[in-house]
Amino acid sequence: MREFILFSRTARTDDNFKFLREGGRLDVVYQCILMSIFSSHRHRNTKLHAILNGPPNPPLHLEVDGSELRDARVDEKTWENILRKVLSGGKHPGIRLGKKSFQELVKEKNKLYVLEERGKDIVEVEFDENPVFVLGDQVGLPKKDEGFALRYGEKISLGKGLYLSSSAIDIVNWWLDRKGIQ
Ligand SMILES: C[S@@+](CC[C@H](N)C(=O)[O-])C[C@H]1O[C@@H](n2cnc3c(N)ncnc32)[C@H](O)[C@@H]1O
Repeated sequence: MREFILFSRTARTDDNFKFLREGGRLDVVYQCILMSIFSSHRHRNTKLHAILNGPPNPPLHLEVDGSELRDARVDEKTWENILRKVLSGGKHPGIRLGKKSFQELVKEKNKLYVLEERGKDIVEVEFDENPVFVLGDQVGLPKKDEGFALRYGEKISLGKGLYLSSSAIDIVNWWLDRKGIQ
């Protein structure tokens, strides 16, 4: 199963927001969920992990598992409701929320690919099955956390253009689909 780990510096860790964007850029988390999990008319067999580092209760680990997700459409309003419910202690099939830091999550993984413009070109990388990708939010991955993740893997690049976090996930999914790697 492919996995993506998004480090969000600012995403709120409670349900005190009107819109996803004003929830410390929870809209970026939503966009990454969309691109990780949804394909046309089906859920991918992928996981999106988002580490939420905004107030008032950081860090939280939000995990969305495409193989277990139910009752979720792709529009932003649906996800605003789901995220509000989960962040206020409610349940939704395929979604888990717990207390965990980025570094604690990274330590559980064997081989990581850190998405970064100046890494090794993705076309030259020999992927094993079940790859795990790390990416930054609208600001990028903090240097300290990037350095930590690189103890467990290597930097890979999608080219010289700087993409949205969600676009980076879409491009990786496209590439691995073409290569036939789960
Ligand atoms: C909007 S970008 C971050 C922008 C931030 N100002 C920076 O310079 O890192 C969001 C994330 O997408 C990934 N990303 C964007 N463009 C990429 C590229 N060309 N190659 C690999 N990863 C990329 C990186 O993980 C990045 O942290």
